[in-house]
Amino acid sequence: MNTFKLITAELQRLEQAKTYKYETALESAQGGVVKVKGKDVVMLASNNYLGLSNHPAVKKAAIEGIKKYGYGVASVRFICGTQDIHYELEKKISKFVGAEDTILFSSCFAANEGYFASFINEGFGSEQHKDVLYSDRLNHASIIDGQRLCRPEFVDKKIYNHSDVAHLEQQLAEDVNNEYRFRIIATDGVFSMEGDLAPLNNIVELGKKYNAIVFMDDSHGIGVCGKTGRGTPEAKGVINKIDVITGTLGKALGGAAGGYISSSKEFISYLRQKSRPYTFSNSLPPAIVFGAMAAMDLLMNDKSIVSRLHENTAYFRKEITSLGFTILEGDHPIVPIMLGEASVAQEMSAALLKAGVYIKGLWFPVVPKGEARLRTQISAALSKKDIDRALEAFEKVGKKMKVINQ
Ligand SMILES: Cc1ncc(COP(=O)(O)O)c(C=O)c1O
Repeated sequence: MNTFKLITAELQRLEQAKTYKYETALESAQGGVVKVKGKDVVMLASNNYLGLSNHPAVKKAAIEGIKKYGYGVASVRFICGTQDIHYELEKKISKFVGAEDTILFSSCFAANEGYFASFINEGFGSEQHKDVLYSDRLNHASIIDGQRLCRPEFVDKKIYNHSDVAHLEQQLAEDVNNEYRFRIIATDGVFSMEGDLAPLNNIVELGKKYNAIVFMDDSHGIGVCGKTGRGTPEAKGVINKIDVITGTLGKALGGAAGGYISSSKEFISYLRQKSRPYTFSNSLPPAIVFGAMAAMDLLMNDKSIVSRLHENTAYFRKEITSLGFTILEGDHPIVPIMLGEASVAQEMSAALLKAGVYIKGLWFPVVPKGEARLRTQISAALSKKDIDRALEAFEKVGKKMKVINQ
């Protein structure tokens, strides 16, 4: 079999297994309502939590960024790709999340890839060392891939059951007499398939008790969780208590691209030296830097944006439940509507698109077998009318498919 045939066969296998990812082109900007195939549909699938992706102030700032600092920097940070605005954005993020310092990456995927190996693979002058990682079973792919870059001879990797503090403690306790150099607990702040928040307060306590570094990816928490949108630590009352926070600029904070790591001054200085996706990849373009700063200014100065997101979320959660749908409980704008079989989720997302609602279904192997779902993501960009229109479509399609009672 030649390469072409092998690849084609694999693509067919993906299609048969219903794991082939199809793309649907939007014919408009991201927003509460978008255009698909010439039709306006309510968007319930984006990470545009604060509705800033197409906000006039963010767009104006991005254009301003291009005017003042150009389109591209054409360099990595340490050669000639650092503009004063990169430091400005890093400072802004540090202040917002309550950390000493911040380092920017081209994405949060790159930030997570650039974190673990940067110190786990380093001997710091000694020949032999071993670190240990404790990772939540449902952590994002970028955390998993970041950990894969750590050389096995330097690290023991343990996976604890999802948000299971007792299991995590059991693993930490088992290792208490092992001579590990660094112990690192890694968790998402918000888990993207479930919309649930990590038990950060317990994790922080365990980190203290067992002398472990607490690493948290707050991509779905920043701008979303907590009264002022400072993220999962604000919601859980542990601001300033997480050792390492990573996050994205590609969701609530304007939705363009870019990621960051916030931590102590020393550790961020170290990452500027050793983190490969930072050292060997272009710095963020000025339009994105300016856009992200404008998004953060809006979030900090206009409290109504994040409260609108919270109100929309509470409204949708209440109304969809009273229609008879089963959702995963919580208060995050990720609202999984549980349907069971993959075929039901597939049929329902297609029917909803026809009825004017854009939503994606998730099924095995992305989520466990028999737990197929539609993943709703609520945004501050949605008006009450948009949400009501979506709820009407849910009711109509749900009844027709007998997912809810007539
Ligand atoms: C938890 C989490 N971490 C990291 C990422 C990657 O973010 P970015 O798009 O900035 O690479 C995502 C995006 O889906 C995510 O959900």
